[in-house]
Amino acid sequence: MKNIFVFGSLNMDMVIRSPYLPAAGETLTGGGFMTNPGGKGANQAAACGKLNGLVHMAGCVGDDAFGKQMLENLAGYGVDVSCVRIVEETPSGIAVIVIVDDDNRIILDVGANSKVNSSDAERLLASAAPGDILLVQLETPLEAVGAALKLAHEKGMYTILNPAPMARDVQACFPYVDMITPNETEFHLLTGTDLLDEGGRFLMDAGIKEVVVTRGAKGYCYISQGKMVSEDCIKAPVVDTTGAGDTFCGALAVKLAAGEDIENALRFANRAAAVTVQRRGAQVSIPTLDEVETYFSTKRKH
Ligand code: RIB
Repeated sequence: MKNIFVFGSLNMDMVIRSPYLPAAGETLTGGGFMTNPGGKGANQAAACGKLNGLVHMAGCVGDDAFGKQMLENLAGYGVDVSCVRIVEETPSGIAVIVIVDDDNRIILDVGANSKVNSSDAERLLASAAPGDILLVQLETPLEAVGAALKLAHEKGMYTILNPAPMARDVQACFPYVDMITPNETEFHLLTGTDLLDEGGRFLMDAGIKEVVVTRGAKGYCYISQGKMVSEDCIKAPVVDTTGAGDTFCGALAVKLAAGEDIENALRFANRAAAVTVQRRGAQVSIPTLDEVETYFSTKRKH
């Protein structure tokens, strides 16, 4: 089993359900308010931990109650948080999430996530070995993400970039990326097309070896040299899609770290994400390995 190193963001999510998005000046009654640990980096690390991966994370939280809570929560999922830095006199990252009709809209205040730098990447990857996996997203400064990818590439690690949320100039990182996992919107922004084969070829011409497009209700599509594999989304009653993409990326990394072939790893990631969407919240909604196995050995028989 290889180690997984996650370099990214930690946010406290403030979630509310609303019947529609209020207009300017309008006050609206929503419901189901909850505060729970999120952030794309931390969610992906939590997914790795809950699904029994060997996972280490670097990032930054503020010196506030939310920072402490996020660190304790992540450690409870089996994530090594010794490289997550507490930044003084800085608030932790906050995500305000409004859920309308099972879809979420997210507004971020990045807070301490903006302090993540290349020294954090060096500390995180000090013990990494060839074949270990680096998993990054784009909620921390692009310069630091680029430094992490370059260092991991030089160490012979396998690098996965989840380009969310999309950042300008991310293309500069492509020479150090082995796999990219955009959603459909990000895929279009990256490639200028919705056509999977054409866009996939564009990304591979830029040096990326494997492309996985996550397509929400349509499942996923995997593209590499001479190969295209897709699978529909597993039908499940959707309660909240927050963290589903992060679950997919974390689960994929866990199976690749365990030496599974790509098709099995993708199938497992699709299953894990199908469990996440049936629950509210971010890290709290990500299933353990037992929960994924139990769900598919009982419910899916019918
Ligand atoms: O991907 C979901 C995450 O995006 C949320 O947990 C929120 O913190 C935002 O970063």
